[in-house]
Amino acid sequence: MGHIVKNLAVEHLIPENRIPENPNFDNVANPLASLENSSSSLEIVQLGNAVLRDIAQPIYGIHDAEVQTLIDRLLATMVQGNGVGIAAPQVGRSLRLIIIASRPNPRYPNAPTMEPLVMVNPHLLSHSEETALGWEGCLSIPGLRGLVPRYRAVEVEYMNRDGTLERQDLTDFVARIFQHEFDHLGGKVFLDRVEKVQNLMTEQEYLKQHP
Ligand code: NI
Repeated sequence: MGHIVKNLAVEHLIPENRIPENPNFDNVANPLASLENSSSSLEIVQLGNAVLRDIAQPIYGIHDAEVQTLIDRLLATMVQGNGVGIAAPQVGRSLRLIIIASRPNPRYPNAPTMEPLVMVNPHLLSHSEETALGWEGCLSIPGLRGLVPRYRAVEVEYMNRDGTLERQDLTDFVARIFQHEFDHLGGKVFLDRVEKVQNLMTEQEYLKQHP
């Protein structure tokens, strides 16, 4: 891993002493409302829906049934969409929850196969200076691929679904997935990171060129 630069502008850093239960959505629109107690998939919202542009809110009360159900349903939605990652805003819930689930693919044949990693209230602690360009797609932007610069390595902190604080170094494809999903929590999509419109391709053309 390259030289690590501390990211001083960590967004939405949640003091650790605020992490335990404080479930009170009463005075705001409840993003957890109307979640059935099941593990079925949810509808993926598409580009143009305002929720994809919102800043997602921290999750409190991680042990609450409705939060655990949202995690299960987000997982099911990612699997059904054949994604390697997903963020809660993509199912219309503006909450700081992402899942990353790398597996090998033509562009990243050495990408690790990993159990889906659920990250609640994630933040980026530091990143490499070095960036790399790589092709990305998004379940909310079907049919389009873009060449996106991302940090080669990131150091991240998050809570797992049991509420334990975890810290991890991610590199290459896994780091890319994290940055893509983390962007969703800040109301950003990969199109915002593409350096020029010429770096966009339809999925059909992409698959022709990267069989
Ligand atoms: Ni996406």
